[in-house]
Amino acid sequence: MSFQDEVKNIIDKTDIVSLVESYNITLEKQGKNYKGLCPFHNEKTPSFIVSPDKKLATCFGCHGGGNPISFVMQIENVGYKEAVEILAKKNGITLSSYSNDKDYESELNKQYYDILNLSKDFYKGYLNNTKDGQRAIKYLIDRGLSQELIDEFNIGLAPNEFDTLYKVLKESNYLELDMYDCGLIDKNNNGYHDIFVNRIMFPIFDIKNRVIGYSARIFNDEKNQPKYINSRETALYHKNEVLFNINLAKSDIMKKRRVILHEGQMDVIASYKSGLKEAICTMGTAINQNQVNVLRKMTNNIIICYDGDKAGIEASKKAINLFEQNGFIVHLVLLPDNLDPDDFSKKYGNLEYYNYFNENIIDSKEYLYRINLLNKNLNDNQVIEEVKKNIFELLSNMNSETLVNTYLNRLKDDLNLDKDSLIKDYNNYISIIKAPKYNEIYNDYDIPDYTEYEEIKPEVIKPKWNSIVELRIFVYAKNRGYAMYINEGIKDYFDALSFESQTLWVKLIDEYYNNFEKYDEGKFINILSQEECDYFTLIMEELAKDSYKLNDDDYGYNYDDMCCCIDKLQEIALQKRNEINKNKLNNSNESDSKKILTEIMNNKKRSLKLKQKNSKGRKN
Ligand code: UTP
Ligand code: MN
Repeated sequence: MSFQDEVKNIIDKTDIVSLVESYNITLEKQGKNYKGLCPFHNEKTPSFIVSPDKKLATCFGCHGGGNPISFVMQIENVGYKEAVEILAKKNGITLSSYSNDKDYESELNKQYYDILNLSKDFYKGYLNNTKDGQRAIKYLIDRGLSQELIDEFNIGLAPNEFDTLYKVLKESNYLELDMYDCGLIDKNNNGYHDIFVNRIMFPIFDIKNRVIGYSARIFNDEKNQPKYINSRETALYHKNEVLFNINLAKSDIMKKRRVILHEGQMDVIASYKSGLKEAICTMGTAINQNQVNVLRKMTNNIIICYDGDKAGIEASKKAINLFEQNGFIVHLVLLPDNLDPDDFSKKYGNLEYYNYFNENIIDSKEYLYRINLLNKNLNDNQVIEEVKKNIFELLSNMNSETLVNTYLNRLKDDLNLDKDSLIKDYNNYISIIKAPKYNEIYNDYDIPDYTEYEEIKPEVIKPKWNSIVELRIFVYAKNRGYAMYINEGIKDYFDALSFESQTLWVKLIDEYYNNFEKYDEGKFINILSQEECDYFTLIMEELAKDSYKLNDDDYGYNYDDMCCCIDKLQEIALQKRNEINKNKLNNSNESDSKKILTEIMNNKKRSLKLKQKNSKGRKN
């Protein structure tokens, strides 16, 4: 059977209703079809229609979903082939033709995963089999970990030498360039050296249980050293996407239908060992939309438990907003005495921590109420007025009279105030904030009817580009001279660009600049098809978020930066070619192998030269 036939067979066998329901989406029968709340955007009235006849699961609001494969691609956030695999598995089908088919992207990254995995094994071995390791283990045990936990989290130790890992990797015949790309080694005038030295190594795994980077902690309390060093950005490690422990937490998140968010990895480990395995954290960054999207696919129930200190409270407030905007039910646990979960469990024990946690889960309103009163000097009238105002603001967003009344009663007691005047103050506050401001007064017929529109959050479209660099050239190319110069530089390296970028680029150079002298975005868009235009818009949106962005005047007209872009694209193309070459090597005879190897070496050399050129002078 061909792959296409197999896919057809899988779609035929799929019961689309039970497929959708297996993602915790409740469906109701309506005639021939089923209806439910769309998993791809927030809505209150169901517009997600499942048709068993047509084998479709589609949203009429956001147009998310589609046939079983598109549905799985979107809900699992995976590519086509993975979705087919998942569906095959769910239907008990073994794929035959497909198993030989190589996934290009994972081939490209396989080398990196292998290197990181080897580094993890090395660090683990070093921790468990050396004298230095014994001291590090003692440190971890003193912090309340057990040998089982150390093993389960694959914790290791980086030796107190500058190049041990480098030598180990070198011995396994890995290339410096690849080690560098994994964020494990660096280079200076004296040669290559390890990035992590004399630190306890916490490997960070992706959701598929592959090592993508590290968080590395000092354990001797050395002065003038950062407590943690985390991996730098690499092809695999994106700090804004990392969720520590997601690999181990995943199944518990699904089972318990909730996820716990902490501030640091020691807190996650503390929760984990007490039995709260559904705990995760970010790597020293505030939680963001990317990470929320990943979690949203598993649950809509979050419990935030950050440190009990001021920074933790501020971070909690931001996280509450973000999660609520994304349709989560948000709860929190506020730990006493500024403790973090790790301190708490150390001080009172695992069981006490576990019980305290589960017995003190409060909703976000309750949390915001409590923190307003936390550590306040309630003998000071000004402080009282401030607290009142903050809590009035909180209450004004509640749509339950009884709830408002309950909180006003509590506030009366907590602040020791007279109930009648408190209510008067509250009503006063409401009448002031509810009064329209001058510029908000409309004529009746001017008022837009917002009720017609449901808020629709389209599913984040997966980027089609290989790297941000290929997008930047479109900005530089707004200058005709630069456009031609870039074209010269990349015309033999088009394989660095995604298919979509190539098409757009050819249109710009061959079609647009052939007919027009100067760049005009409107005119350029005119020659694009709808699809190309959508892609172009996506690019422009991405570039607006690009941290590399300069201001509009000189963005696009900086010669050095432009050259750097060209070099980078050449480098990407060379690396890609070598990935393909490496695959070819497996299936070639001796004389071909020699040719391929020479080509690989040449590509490596050129690519390294480009890299060095750019890491010296220019930003990249
Ligand atoms: P904390 O300073 O609260 O650390 O930073 P912690 O989790 O209590 O760590 P221990 O208990 O002293 O070992 C919270 C998180 O911020 C990141 C780490 O991910 C840490 O877990 N962080 C902190 C860094 O990335 N670098 C630092 O130097 C410090
Ligand atoms: Mn701590």
